[in-house]
Amino acid sequence: MQRAKITIIGAGNVGATCAHWAAAKELGDITLVDIVEGLPQGKGLDLAESAPIEGFDSRIVGTNDYADTANSDVVIITSGVPRKKDPVTGQFPSRDELLATNVRIVGDVTRNVAARSPNAVLIIVSNPLDAMVYVAWKVSGFPTNRVVGQAGVLDTARYRAFIADALGCSVEDITALLMGGHGDDMVPLPRYTSVAGIPLPELLPADRIEAIVDRTRKGGGEIVGLLKTGSAFYAPSAAAVQMAESIIRDKRRILPCAAYCDKEYGVGGYFVGVPCVLGWHGVEKVIEVALTNAERALFTESVEHVKTLVADTKKLIG
Ligand code: APR
Repeated sequence: MQRAKITIIGAGNVGATCAHWAAAKELGDITLVDIVEGLPQGKGLDLAESAPIEGFDSRIVGTNDYADTANSDVVIITSGVPRKKDPVTGQFPSRDELLATNVRIVGDVTRNVAARSPNAVLIIVSNPLDAMVYVAWKVSGFPTNRVVGQAGVLDTARYRAFIADALGCSVEDITALLMGGHGDDMVPLPRYTSVAGIPLPELLPADRIEAIVDRTRKGGGEIVGLLKTGSAFYAPSAAAVQMAESIIRDKRRILPCAAYCDKEYGVGGYFVGVPCVLGWHGVEKVIEVALTNAERALFTESVEHVKTLVADTKKLIG
């Protein structure tokens, strides 16, 4: 059987850790790309040298040359600049400055990978996610099913971890679904959260669930606050690789992803966080679940934020 080829763009914290998880799962051969010379080569070689210990046969190539990415099945895009203080001025970049920089980086990267891997599924991780998925879709010209963003798997994982902790039970027994955008824009659905089939509201009082939802919303900030010099990467990369696995192995997992919705949920042509079936063709299907009025109101608010962000992004890419 031919091995899958996975390209990961960005050999920083998220990208390199994606390579680690993907190799550990033996998902396929991995090409790690970065703009910085030596970084993907060094991390790629280091990871390859762990293979005899861990017992995986994935081949890992670190490179600055897009020719090495040709004919990838899945491309995970993590490149971009994070929101951090300028060491000289001590100032944070403005939201618009950051958006403009990452639009340029993700646009550039997408142009390079799409030309060499015209049949790939693109998984976008770079932030601001809703804008970056739009850029990757526009620049690649790929059909909507082959461009998908990672946010929901991460938020849902944080939520599941906190619930398991509160109940003192295995994380494996928590199944959950969150919709909408990342963090503040998240739409929690405790009605659709279950613990070994038992609805969550039967096991935890409403105020405990509310506190868990609130911690999940602020999950990214909690880690930034602790790390001080960077943002989360173990869970974000594990989330992206779970999506890649579902695609490469055609598992058809139902995962919350930023997927293109037109008629679905009445969104009208934007990438938003919804439950999807992820398989070999990328987003095989968007699943529409019934929402209460309150849940619908939160979802609509989240979609409105995506629309504003995409309008700003359109001005940058023309
Ligand atoms: N081409 C390739 N790589 C690039 C480019 C480019 N044009 N521009 C930047 N990079 C690389 C950087 O050199 C760096 O190695 O992207 C990498 C980003 O890594 P980190 O700064 O460590 O950031 P990380 O924590 O990995 O986050 C990456 O994922 O979760 C999101 O919000 C996060 O948008 C951020 C992204």
